[in-house]
Amino acid sequence: MSTSTASAPSLHKPIDVTWRDVMSLCAVYWFSQPKRLAVVMGFVFAMVVLDILFPITAGLLVDRIVTAIQAGEGFDPAYRALCLYMAVVVLFFIVRNVRSRIWNVLAARNMAQLLEDTFAKVQKFSSDWHANTFAGATVRKITRGKWAYDAISEILWMNFLPQGLMVIGVTAVMIVRYPSVGLMFAVGVVIHVGASILVASRYVRPANVRAAGADSAIGAAVADAMTNNAAVKSFGAEIREEARFRNTVLSWREKAIVAWTRGWDLIFVQQVIWRFMQFLTIFMLIGLASRGQATAGDIVFMLTLNSQLGGYLRQVGDHIRQLQRATSEFADVVDFHARPLQIADQAQAPSLRREEGRIEFSNVTFGYEASGKPLYDQFNLTIQPGERVGLVGPSGSGKSTFVKLIQRLYDVDKGAVMIDGQNIDAVSQTSLRSSVALVPQDPLLFHRSLSENIAYARPEASKGEIKEAARRARASEFIDRLPLGYDTLVGERGVKLSGGERQRVAIARAFIADAPIVIFDEATSSLDTITERLIQGAMRELMLGRTTIIVAHRLSTVKDVDRILVFDRGRIVEQGCHQDLIRVDSGRYRALYEMQDVAA
Ligand SMILES: Nc1ncnc2c1ncn2[C@@H]1O[C@H](COP(=O)(O)OP(=O)(O)OP(=O)(O)O)[C@@H](O)[C@H]1O
Ligand SMILES: [Mg+2]
Repeated sequence: MSTSTASAPSLHKPIDVTWRDVMSLCAVYWFSQPKRLAVVMGFVFAMVVLDILFPITAGLLVDRIVTAIQAGEGFDPAYRALCLYMAVVVLFFIVRNVRSRIWNVLAARNMAQLLEDTFAKVQKFSSDWHANTFAGATVRKITRGKWAYDAISEILWMNFLPQGLMVIGVTAVMIVRYPSVGLMFAVGVVIHVGASILVASRYVRPANVRAAGADSAIGAAVADAMTNNAAVKSFGAEIREEARFRNTVLSWREKAIVAWTRGWDLIFVQQVIWRFMQFLTIFMLIGLASRGQATAGDIVFMLTLNSQLGGYLRQVGDHIRQLQRATSEFADVVDFHARPLQIADQAQAPSLRREEGRIEFSNVTFGYEASGKPLYDQFNLTIQPGERVGLVGPSGSGKSTFVKLIQRLYDVDKGAVMIDGQNIDAVSQTSLRSSVALVPQDPLLFHRSLSENIAYARPEASKGEIKEAARRARASEFIDRLPLGYDTLVGERGVKLSGGERQRVAIARAFIADAPIVIFDEATSSLDTITERLIQGAMRELMLGRTTIIVAHRLSTVKDVDRILVFDRGRIVEQGCHQDLIRVDSGRYRALYEMQDVAA
């Protein structure tokens, strides 16, 4: 698995992002503060004018000095020209400073907004998307995207725009002053820019795209190995993982070398064109001077202009390279923004009306995108309000899928899932999910305090309510033993708690949520008998007055439920209470029961 999307179904395929897509998304942010942008542009134009005046005043200064020396009429005009020259220089730096101050505010605000928007969008992607995407890669894409936006904006608005205007301006000045040199210069600029764009887009960009892809793969590889660090350790597989990682790094190394080398080739091409142009213009000016059509000041104007433009054009190569890298990095963010939500609320979807908690599957057909045949075909089932239902069956028979469909983590292909007579497709996902409390198999906790974790469903819950929930979940006894009690930070993903402790925190959460429907995905890891009893006691208390679904791995958990559903390949092959089912001769449940009984 080299990238985050390699093995995922088409839902997760990267979207083809073009240059235009990148620019349109950037434009949304650029023009989000039009007034501030207009002020910045005013200062940019002032800078361009001063920039053009700079070589002109330099030429003027030299002409005045030469005239003063040759005619001997005094140096006053020369001193005035010097003052003018200095005034232009100083004013340029003042204007640039003010422009940057305003620009900084604009840039930081836009970056912050971009981050917020991207976070909000990615957070709404389906659980399926998140399950198929490395969190580490997503983190990198979002943070990298922020800096990529900054680089694109900076290069286009602060460099290419003013420098482009400056080139147009000086070319115009030259054409007015000495048309032949000016026209030659204009042709040279067009060739320079055209060649730069061609080499950059056809030769450099593809290499940059490949290098950026390899770079993302490194992030994904590190994230994968670190997430599974426990497995790596337990198999003593560090060396193997290192070898695997080395391959990823080597692939990046080779691609990076090619990309960087091609970047320098671009600079080389630009320099050759530029130096040749420089030679030609000065050569032609000397010709004009020999016929008395140009002064020493004109030569100084040209030389000053050359060194000024030379500086800009040297940067153009770098900027094009940075711009290309930034656009390929920003493409990930564009992908996030352009990607439709896999599970979307209908426009103005109402909230689910919380009633008694009746669950109905009516003619549901559903299959995972990756597999051909549907898992559920014309599936029908009603779970009565307050009923306690246990789901059993072999691995892969569709128990977890059943639960995911109730939470609408996937949309059904045909038919409908209804809660209290309301199609869950038609109500808001937030209201649906808050009506269904899930106690997962292996609960993950936020790296926040225990009380925040317990109160996650209802952050405004009082200290008393939190304690009461913990007590009913049989969690208070271990929490009270912790030195910091309810203020204990539980470590990233709750690693500082044992499996049984985390499960009880999850049950406490469900008490706070107070939803009419509760789903337990029973832990497969064997808990000690005391913990198991504690958890079963907590579960029984939570079930009271709520529709309950228990995905059971140990049949002992479902002995007392009202109805057991035996799943096999997406169908219910047997149902009834424990007592009835074990009496069925050669029944599926009985076979499962006898197997576990022997094992126990
Ligand atoms: N995200 C997915 N993409 C594609 N196929 C999936 C996905 N999740 C599950 N499946 C497939 O759907 C079928 C049912 O899976 P499900 O997770 O519902 O089984 P289960 O009964 O919960 O099994 P277990 O007891 O092992 O948890 C399996 O064949 C599984 O491979
Ligand atoms: Mg399962």
